[in-house]
Amino acid sequence: MNKVAVVTGATSGIGRANVELLLKANIDVIGLARNEMRAEVLKKDLADIKTQAKLHVVMGDLSSTRKTQDALVAIKSVLDKHYEGHLDILMNVAGIVSSGLHLNEEGNELTFATNHLSVFILTNGLISYLEKSQDPRILVVSSLSHYRASINFNNLQNKKCYNILKAYKRSKLYNVFFVKAFAKRYPHLPIFAIDPGLVKTEIGIKNTSKLAAKVWLWRVSKGTEANYPASFMVKIATDPDYISQTGLYFKEGIPKKSNPITYLEHHQDKLWELTEELVKSV
Ligand SMILES: NC(=O)c1ccc[n+]([C@@H]2O[C@H](COP(=O)([O-])OP(=O)(O)OC[C@H]3O[C@@H](n4cnc5c(N)ncnc54)[C@H](OP(=O)(O)O)[C@@H]3O)[C@@H](O)[C@H]2O)c1
Repeated sequence: MNKVAVVTGATSGIGRANVELLLKANIDVIGLARNEMRAEVLKKDLADIKTQAKLHVVMGDLSSTRKTQDALVAIKSVLDKHYEGHLDILMNVAGIVSSGLHLNEEGNELTFATNHLSVFILTNGLISYLEKSQDPRILVVSSLSHYRASINFNNLQNKKCYNILKAYKRSKLYNVFFVKAFAKRYPHLPIFAIDPGLVKTEIGIKNTSKLAAKVWLWRVSKGTEANYPASFMVKIATDPDYISQTGLYFKEGIPKKSNPITYLEHHQDKLWELTEELVKSV
């Protein structure tokens, strides 16, 4: 049976580049998309790739717990139908930057929900599928910006004094905490935090003010193309050398020290427990 990967954020930027490289490596892909039109464009654009592998596009929205749980059901049904309920690679790539405080249907802040809660729900929800793989790997896309973030358990979601950059940086810090906490709980399922560097994508112009979008376009002009970080991500997802390096933070395929606070186990555990409570309460 072919290897199969789930990629969130498949319709653009870093996620889309990973979908293309995985298909070229003859790995089947289940790409998660939130927008029908962008899903169609993805299928059309990738239809001519030379590969033995198959692309499934599953519709799903990661902006709330309820919607993420629906997306999880849709992903599982493809895995059950075509892959005997096994999953080899999970790439948590989808993410947002958002100007202004927006709460989702459960009252959770949108950046926190999309960038952190959905990763927690999907990854934990797919454990039994990953456990059926001969060579399971999980990747979570964090960011260099996590180094400049702090954690405040009294304002975890930044609902007090919301600030676009603070909310984003903290969500990317939580990604690293999650990777470390997950690696401790599930040592048999290798998991890696990824710093993709600065990448030319549209993330900074989708949910942002005119000013923030302008700043992003200026900054990102110095970034790499999305296939640059994707090439390292596919390497981490497939090269046997990485299996023993679970729980670490990687830039360009090389392990780096993450923000010193991400090593504090009581913080890792507290964030895990609070996240679990938030997710279970729905
Ligand atoms: N670009 C950078 O320089 C950079 C640097 C560090 C980290 N990152 C991280 O890299 C990841 C990918 O970002 P990118 O730069 O490639 O941006 P992007 O091109 O905007 O890609 C983000 C992807 O996430 C999807 N997405 C957003 N909200 C979603 C939701 N509610 N439900 C389902 N899918 C959703 C988007 O769907 P649509 O196509 O429908 O918009 C898109 O496919 C993010 O986690 C980001 O934090 C990026």
